Amino acid sequence: MTAAFRNAGFSALLVCGAAFAQSGYRPAQPGNPLPGIVSAEFELFRIGLDDFIEVEDAGEGLGPAFNGLGCAQCHATPAIGGVSPVAEFRAGRLDAAGNFSVLGGDTLYHLFALPNQECQPAIPPDANVIARRIPIPLFGAGLVEAIPDDAIRALADPDDGNGDGVSGRAAVVVDVATGGERIGRFGWKAQHATLLAFGADAYRNEMGITNDLFPTETAAGIAPETLAVCDAVPDPEDRREPLTGLRGIDAFEAFMKFLAPVERGPAGAAAVRGEAVFASVGCAACHVPVLMTGRDANPVFDRRPVPLYSDLLLHDVATGDGIAQGAAQPNEIRTPALWGLRFRRPLLHDGDAATPEAAVLRHGNEAADAASRFVELPPDDRAALLAFLDSL
Ligand code: HEC
Ligand code: HEC
Repeated sequence: MTAAFRNAGFSALLVCGAAFAQSGYRPAQPGNPLPGIVSAEFELFRIGLDDFIEVEDAGEGLGPAFNGLGCAQCHATPAIGGVSPVAEFRAGRLDAAGNFSVLGGDTLYHLFALPNQECQPAIPPDANVIARRIPIPLFGAGLVEAIPDDAIRALADPDDGNGDGVSGRAAVVVDVATGGERIGRFGWKAQHATLLAFGADAYRNEMGITNDLFPTETAAGIAPETLAVCDAVPDPEDRREPLTGLRGIDAFEAFMKFLAPVERGPAGAAAVRGEAVFASVGCAACHVPVLMTGRDANPVFDRRPVPLYSDLLLHDVATGDGIAQGAAQPNEIRTPALWGLRFRRPLLHDGDAATPEAAVLRHGNEAADAASRFVELPPDDRAALLAFLDSL
């Protein structure tokens, strides 16, 4: 990674960073670093932010096929690390028995290709599933990463042993960095357990920049020899910066790890009451209000409450995108965190819902009882629940 362009709005923050990091100041604005980090961590956050907003070109390894030129293109609102109204495409084939097959070696069909269209993946006519997915915000991602696998496993009830109709499954995935089994929690399919792995996956899959964890180029249906002609930069394209010793994937990890969660917005009486309604109709069975991080040598991650409103489990709420990925079945989606919801539109994995209410009305199967209790709520209770969601 070389020269990055800077977000002018951030320069004031960068200048006062060290004092900021040590003062215990609580951030009011999305995009700030976690309060309490030390100067060395702030410096990593800052380097990571630079790499995250950098726009890449073909000379630096962009492509052959890609969805964007830089992480921040899709993670920008309401601050760097957030979301953007873009969707990417996955496709494949489901047979009558519900078995999924990958066509052309990959389910991701990139939006763009370099230098000509020879490496542009085309969705094959025999695909009968085409899914759209929108970005997921990264605020508070380091705290989510610090939740122990066992805490997620403890919430799982794959066979619905307690008979409440809700049967979340923990996503057991292989961590590409260590080869060990972990519980996935990032991505709509809970396909990765760590920020290093997700960032490395995104660098290769979103931008076509190969790296130590994802060392080969990919584009569905395109032969490796053709890919090598479209992009002749030697793999892995992500190199260590001589000055910092960091790879791009290390820098992304640091930025995301130290990015603070979005704070709750103002909550009036209705929003406070709405949280009780949210729990009473059964939303909190999956949108679990708080999980705890584990023991951690770093005090900012040590046994901290994480008010994310998710169990990080895979569920079938009748919105599944038809794509099998990682441990997730075609009909499963990981419960999204609801923190920062007021800054996020559209909603649902496919961006199909314009409002929180529309998102709730799409819930079925495991969430059918909760959704019908929502529909049957007296109007003031329903308004209170929605006011609560708007305060997140
Ligand atoms: C073209 C748009 C686009 C670009 C560019 C992009 N992302 Fe994303 N990001 C997405 C989408 C879409 C998802 C959801 C993907 C999924 O689950 O299949 C996502 C999800 C994520 C997540 C999961 C967050 C969570 O809590 O579940 C992380 C981490 C992430 N992106 C990091 C990055 C990094 C780092 C980069 C740059 C190397 C990057 N992204 C570039 C669109 C993008
Ligand atoms: C059985 C688990 C489950 C229950 C119960 C449940 N949800 Fe969800 N919720 C999910 C899953 C899974 C998704 C993601 C669906 C998708 O994107 O396709 C979701 C998505 C959402 C979203 C959209 C979030 C986003 O980032 O796009 C909102 C808002 C929401 N739920 C609110 C509620 C409310 C309010 C209730 C109670 C009436 C509720 N949910 C009950 C699992 C559940």
